[in-house]
Amino acid sequence: MNIVEAKDKIDERGFLDIDLDVNMDLFAEIERLKKEKNAIVLAHYYQEPDIQDVADFLGDSLGLAQKAQTTKADMIVFAGVHFMAETAKILNPSRKVVLPDLKAGCSLADSAPAAQFQAFKEKHRDHIVISYINCTADIKALSDIICTSSNAEAILNSLPKDQEIIFAPDKNLGGFLNKKTGRNMLLWNGACMVHEIFSMEKITRLKVRHPNAKVIAHPECEEPVLRLADFIGSTTQLLKYAVTDSNNEFIVATETGILHQMQKEAPHKTFIPAPPTNSCACNDCPYMKLNTLEKLYLCMEYETPEIIMDEQLRLAAKKPIERMLEISRKAGLIG
Ligand code: 13P
Ligand code: SF4
Repeated sequence: MNIVEAKDKIDERGFLDIDLDVNMDLFAEIERLKKEKNAIVLAHYYQEPDIQDVADFLGDSLGLAQKAQTTKADMIVFAGVHFMAETAKILNPSRKVVLPDLKAGCSLADSAPAAQFQAFKEKHRDHIVISYINCTADIKALSDIICTSSNAEAILNSLPKDQEIIFAPDKNLGGFLNKKTGRNMLLWNGACMVHEIFSMEKITRLKVRHPNAKVIAHPECEEPVLRLADFIGSTTQLLKYAVTDSNNEFIVATETGILHQMQKEAPHKTFIPAPPTNSCACNDCPYMKLNTLEKLYLCMEYETPEIIMDEQLRLAAKKPIERMLEISRKAGLIG
């Protein structure tokens, strides 16, 4: 099958369903394809360990957006979720951007349908819109500035104190920022299904058994969980804190994928995933985990599924992302 034929073969589940020889060395094949196609593999920390290990760049949403903007590679292979790959295409349209599984969505992005958000925005015309990067291109196009969890505070600090703001779509991150900055942003009622599942009671019980453990949490978590935290930050900030802090034991309230890097960078330390309310694996993001090493190989080999965007939408969505990157540069958060 060639690349053109492969385009028609993405099944209704969102990926190329082709049986691979189980003896194939996928790590070696992916390295071969990187060279042959001048491709770069960008991966988020919530990807499975094998994908993190083959990535050329591993990062949080801000780091990944910046890398996508500046890469000279011909093909960006995005091991993350759809809004991240879409952001890469928005920032670097001349590159081919492929995603291992088109159905790798995001519950936060889904929580803000564009038509409803537009109607909400129209009711508050004196407000500017700051949207968390975990949203669709349509929502980005309706926004004034984008933010991520690592630069949200810097973005807010760049605006006058009395500026009226709508913050979307994550009410937990928005609430955390309101508390931290003393603002009173109007919050869209969206949330991440993974970060909402952590149990305050179970974390408290875990702390009784591990009295020396520090709790570190992502700001997408709900307020009661954040209140227990010794440190709150984006995935990159959590990783940095866990590795550099003098403590040796941590309860980690974010998606479990990050534990792979924590353990790699600080093998002598103990990292305990914060427990969800049920005994499910709900602290694994079902969207992030749709990507597998097999699908990663296939999307590189056949250059599909590819992110294709309407040019007008791309340009409208690009403006607030570029504003975010500019403020982040000024604040010294990115190079
Ligand atoms: P960051 O990696 O930017 O902290 O985002 C976390 C997340 O939920 C990504 O979907
Ligand atoms: Fe979306 Fe939450 Fe999954 Fe991140 S962890 S991709 S915010 S559903």
